Amino acid sequence: MASLGVEMEVIALIAIILCTSFAQALSRIEEENIERQLKLLRKPAIKTIKTKFGDLYDCVDFYKQPAFDHPSLKNHTFHFQMKPSYYRKEVKKTIKGGNRQRNKWAKTLWANGKGCPYGTIPIRRTTREDLHREMLRLKVIHNSRINPLTAGNDGVHYALVQTRPSPIAKYTGVGAFMTIWNVPVTGSQYSAAQIKIQNGNEYLQTGWRVDPTLNGDNKTRTFIYTHVGQSQCYNTRCPGFVLVRQDMPIDVTLPISKGGGPMYSIQLTISQDPITKNWWLARGSDNPTYVGFWPRSLFTSLQGMAPYVNWGGEVFSPPGEPSPRMGAGYPLRLWGKYDAQMFLVTYRNETNNIINAINTQEFADTRKYYDVKDFGIDYSEIQKIGHLLLYGGPGGIRN
Ligand SMILES: *[C@@H]1O[C@H](CO)[C@@H](O)[C@H](O)[C@H]1NC(C)=O
Ligand SMILES: *[C@@H]1O[C@H](CO)[C@@H](O)[C@H](O)[C@H]1NC(C)=O
Ligand SMILES: *[C@@H]1O[C@H](CO)[C@@H](O)[C@H](O)[C@H]1NC(C)=O
Repeated sequence: MASLGVEMEVIALIAIILCTSFAQALSRIEEENIERQLKLLRKPAIKTIKTKFGDLYDCVDFYKQPAFDHPSLKNHTFHFQMKPSYYRKEVKKTIKGGNRQRNKWAKTLWANGKGCPYGTIPIRRTTREDLHREMLRLKVIHNSRINPLTAGNDGVHYALVQTRPSPIAKYTGVGAFMTIWNVPVTGSQYSAAQIKIQNGNEYLQTGWRVDPTLNGDNKTRTFIYTHVGQSQCYNTRCPGFVLVRQDMPIDVTLPISKGGGPMYSIQLTISQDPITKNWWLARGSDNPTYVGFWPRSLFTSLQGMAPYVNWGGEVFSPPGEPSPRMGAGYPLRLWGKYDAQMFLVTYRNETNNIINAINTQEFADTRKYYDVKDFGIDYSEIQKIGHLLLYGGPGGIRN
């Protein structure tokens, strides 16, 4: 085991040498930042466990997780048994079946069938190489943003459904079932399915993504993105998001749908606890698994409700590279068996009722390459499908 550790270090070193011999080498200050961040992110592991897909996760003591490096969480009183205040009501509704279902996915996910020990949470170990890739991409994005030739075109493209602007809109949550796909993605590109809730310049996202820069592989994994002031990052890379479950990582590998073949989907929601104002991330609906939360104290505008939510696809490619595929990766066929879809497209209203979204509109910045079709609510099968949308495309735009 020890010698394996050393080998990993050597591989990481070689990767750094390769990276830094790149045209966009990192400056000395950036290198120092990476070292500092790495030190912060490397939390002591009580043990390391494996998923059935071969991913290694460190089991980190709940109280030592990266979230608590955030200055606003210094005196927190959080606990790993925390749940949102509306949890009791939900459990009463579905007291049966729930735990069985939950244990089932823990069994299918973890080699040991149950995940990390009680009181710890699973986090994939961040390597120096991970941080290098991320920093290089940030530089590319930043450079493209300040380059006047590409102003207003930072390499990101969307095809999504969004709420219409309204002075009285107040949402306390967003959710959807999304079918899961995998498309080829290279270099610093990414291709994602996401839902977003936003108030001003603070927003939260979750969904799935293929993102070798973030994940170090081409697998489709769940993610969160936090955009709050100086904290703009994926998963637990910047402090703040508190994981509570011992068996559900933030970046878990997902099963992939096949065009015309078996479909796999995942339901994800973000919702604000009306009492504490913490924003909770959950997986599943009838019997949601609360993965963790963004504490109220991280936010300014998102301490309140949000006037905007959206659901759909997002891709990125750096300048000069054709943009990657989105969703299922082909022009829309308007057929859920071949297109990426989101159904039970919901938000929570001001009084915390979960509503199939109404008063929505499509948005795609370049429909020729990435398209979206908002079907609205399917009244014939309202319980099953609710609000449905299809999105995706072959990409290939040169930014
Ligand atoms: C934490 O508690 C200390 C001592 O009471 C106080 O000085 C500090 O402001 C608190 N920090 C936060 C972020 O609440
Ligand atoms: C991802 O896939 C591309 C294209 O197949 C390949 O070139 C690249 O090495 C892969 N990246 C990783 C991290 O596996
Ligand atoms: C939220 O939705 C519920 C259920 O449709 C409705 O009864 C309630 O009036 C709505 N709240 C607001 C503030 O619109």
